[in-house]
Amino acid sequence: MGKPSSIIKLIFSLLFLLLEEVVPISLFSPTDNYLINCGSAAPTTDDPYNRKFTGDESSESNSVVFSAAGTFTLGESNPPPDSSPIYRSARFFARPSKYEFPIRQKGSHFVRLHFHRFHSSKFHLFDAEFHVLADGYLLLHNFRGLTMKNSEIREYVLWIDSDKLEISFLPSMKSKFAFVSAIEVISAPKDLILDTAQFVDSDGVAKFGGLSKNAFETIYRINVGGPKVTPFNDSLWRTWIPDDQFLNSIENGSKRVSYSGRIEYQLGGASREVAPDNVYNSARVISSSNSMIPKTNITLTFPIVEGYKYLVRTHFCDIKSTALNLLYFNVYVNGNLAFENMDLSTISNGMLASPFYADFVVDGGSLGFLNVSIGPSSWSNPNAIDAILNGIEVMKLNNSMGSLDGDVSAALLLKSRPRGTHGVLLPLVAVMCLLLVASVVLSRRRFAVGDSVAWSPLPPDVSDVNFLKCENQQFAGKLSYV
Ligand SMILES: *[C@@H]1O[C@H](CO)[C@@H](O)[C@H](O)[C@H]1NC(C)=O
Ligand SMILES: *[C@@H]1O[C@H](CO)[C@@H](O)[C@H](O)[C@H]1NC(C)=O
Ligand SMILES: *[C@@H]1O[C@H](CO)[C@@H](O)[C@H](O)[C@H]1NC(C)=O
Ligand SMILES: *[C@@H]1O[C@H](CO)[C@@H](O)[C@H](O)[C@H]1NC(C)=O
Ligand SMILES: *[C@@H]1O[C@H](CO)[C@@H](O)[C@H](O)[C@H]1NC(C)=O
Repeated sequence: MGKPSSIIKLIFSLLFLLLEEVVPISLFSPTDNYLINCGSAAPTTDDPYNRKFTGDESSESNSVVFSAAGTFTLGESNPPPDSSPIYRSARFFARPSKYEFPIRQKGSHFVRLHFHRFHSSKFHLFDAEFHVLADGYLLLHNFRGLTMKNSEIREYVLWIDSDKLEISFLPSMKSKFAFVSAIEVISAPKDLILDTAQFVDSDGVAKFGGLSKNAFETIYRINVGGPKVTPFNDSLWRTWIPDDQFLNSIENGSKRVSYSGRIEYQLGGASREVAPDNVYNSARVISSSNSMIPKTNITLTFPIVEGYKYLVRTHFCDIKSTALNLLYFNVYVNGNLAFENMDLSTISNGMLASPFYADFVVDGGSLGFLNVSIGPSSWSNPNAIDAILNGIEVMKLNNSMGSLDGDVSAALLLKSRPRGTHGVLLPLVAVMCLLLVASVVLSRRRFAVGDSVAWSPLPPDVSDVNFLKCENQQFAGKLSYV
């Protein structure tokens, strides 16, 4: 027999190696994770990426459901076979209503609103026109069925400081209505949006603080040099699209590259939640040939709405250099130098294929677009890669009125609602609260708070807020009032 201790050591180190290689990358598991299929009574419906959406009217949790004037469920009569199953129903609001999501972990949350405009015999979704409010922010203002795409997903990142998130739907006029097909509310990882970034304008670069407490709307999310990445391959269920339509066509000196090795995520750099392997293992590069550094940039141009600040997140991962300390390049935002002589070898502590991201904040300006360029710097090497870019995200920040869609505040929209029929509503709601309490007492069932989403009409004006208190979150429930 050999020395048992060294054999044990060997076994342990083998085991360790094995574990390192075999144990799957721990998947991010969000504390708050609501996937709601609106207007559906089905306990769960799979989306095309195998995610289970719970019907907002599902009886799975035995919650009490009141059928209600003012909101309806709508089903698509003849859905095309390739349409997403979660898009075959919608909730329809003829008057102000809201969903309530209990929040267990304060901080940044993804909120995705899905709108699928289908043909219904009852209503023309083309005629919808409404506002969407969330957590005091105005997300959508006069959002119209007529001008939306057939399927539209709007994504927001909201910092939620309270124990519930309210998402309200307000028809823009009495004759209009609102609808929604599905809603996602998902805790974001703590480090997804850091509190500081670099503000870039023609005066140079300055520190921008308090970033994470803003509300954001995702405007563009680009997998530079690579194919579309679907929610299936992104641990936060994001979609990344290819860069083609944003590339400056005159600058044709770049090429696509891809990488099949391992992406070396490191503490302090980008994590897999910041962007997945599929973003970092493809890129666009400028490379020297014949000992000449090409005189070109790679520029992506993004149409934007003026009057807002934008967060521009640039993703880098040196998947192409053959050795360390060969790659140096500049990053420009709107033609202004944002990062000079970026040196990924040093940033990553001497490791290739290790991802990094840099956040810049810019003013939307008055041109209706913003652009991001990378190009060779004075340190670039005539026998190497001279610039690389793996991904770009562009996110709109709320303006000073707390709006992401126009110069109007959520509070103002709520106040200016036409007066409703609250003389009738108040006693009715009181009766319903009683019924609700009675039924819960009788059934003595408790429901997991984590799965509960309450939805209810908004009061016709803000002074009526009190009577919504009857919504007990233990009801796990979907409440709708007549
Ligand atoms: C996920 O990524 C893999 C590897 O890049 C790709 O082959 C596959 O098609 C992707 N799946 C989906 C559903 O996007
Ligand atoms: C790149 O652009 C230049 C001028 O804009 C043109 O002469 C050249 O043919 C282009 N090259 C390719 C590969 O398209
Ligand atoms: C990028 O934007 C700046 C100003 O916003 C403009 O001067 C410059 O020409 C643009 N560059 C490209 C390549 O579009
Ligand atoms: C790259 O873009 C920057 C900013 O617009 C500009 O100053 C620089 O001259 C460009 N480089 C080349 C080679 O076009
Ligand atoms: C976004 O709204 C918050 C208030 O919720 C405000 O403090 C912040 O300044 C706004 N952001 C901008 C860029 O105006």
